[in-house]
Amino acid sequence: VARRDTSKSQLQRRQPRRGSPAASPVTGRTKILGIFGDPVDHSSSPAMHNAALRALGLDYVYVAFHVRPDQLATAVAAIRALDLAGINVTVPHKQEVARHLDSIGEEARRTGAVNTITNRDGTLHGDNTDVAGFAAALREAGARVRGRRVVVIGAGGAARAALVALGALDAGQVVLVNRTGERAAQLARDLGSWVAIEPASLADLRSPALLGDAALVVNTTSLGLHGERFPALAASRSPHDCVFFDMVYGRHTDFLRRARAAQRTAVDGSAMLLHQGARAFRLWTKRAAPLAVMRAVLELRKSSIDKARDRR
Ligand code: ATR
Repeated sequence: VARRDTSKSQLQRRQPRRGSPAASPVTGRTKILGIFGDPVDHSSSPAMHNAALRALGLDYVYVAFHVRPDQLATAVAAIRALDLAGINVTVPHKQEVARHLDSIGEEARRTGAVNTITNRDGTLHGDNTDVAGFAAALREAGARVRGRRVVVIGAGGAARAALVALGALDAGQVVLVNRTGERAAQLARDLGSWVAIEPASLADLRSPALLGDAALVVNTTSLGLHGERFPALAASRSPHDCVFFDMVYGRHTDFLRRARAAQRTAVDGSAMLLHQGARAFRLWTKRAAPLAVMRAVLELRKSSIDKARDRR
């Protein structure tokens, strides 16, 4: 029978058991991480990060904060006032939040978006880990884009992260497809010196020539999140090693279905979510993220989304 030892010094030294949910009580010393978003209750980040923190026995807790746009400045001030250790930022705050911070990193500057805030003794630093997260997910999917043509669909914040990553990976040329032509043209002006961008329309996706020598096709729009059909796409005309990447996470979207029907590699956004989270985790805790634990949490959530859908 294990002896119980309750002397103060031993209690302070005692580490939580690895992987045990009950072993991480919140104490007066527990550091707080979290996510600001609107909406935020669907986020997988709390489950993913809390599992990672527990697995390494780190005395942190990660919480979802529902922050409405008119409260963003106050919420950022609260990071300082409450000494929160780090915060993820999601829709719709990624662009707006930068002006409330003390400094921002290179990728955040290039994308104009911050998804990770680190509190360095009251100084708030913003990073964009979506860029490296996307690049890592591409590597995992076996996409080789160096010197090759890539098709990016959408021209919002998610597309910006993809373009910044593709420039860093030396993609040859990006065809930027968007419903609203002017937004694609604007993005081409903003990031054209970083990566070569040619704007195109959704109707062009039907053209065999567009996908004919593409190494990668990325959907950055939210199309498919609620079961919407994707515009016609000449997937079968792409090279056999072409990777179809959907930033939508945890859904069997029409985009992925069509890529699979054409027997191409089709991946959803879960690896990107994993790797952006792993980079944030490292920035906050200075520890390498336990990828297998985090991936298992995401897989579990994905299968529960599937089951909920099957029941409907
Ligand atoms: P985010 O910052 O998350 O990327 P966003 O800035 O709202 O979000 O951009 C959403 C992208 O999805 C845009 O490219 C948008 O096209 P428009 O620029 O024409 O609005 C695209 N999108 C959203 N709904 C769409 C739909 N039903 N059909 C085609 N594109 C759509």
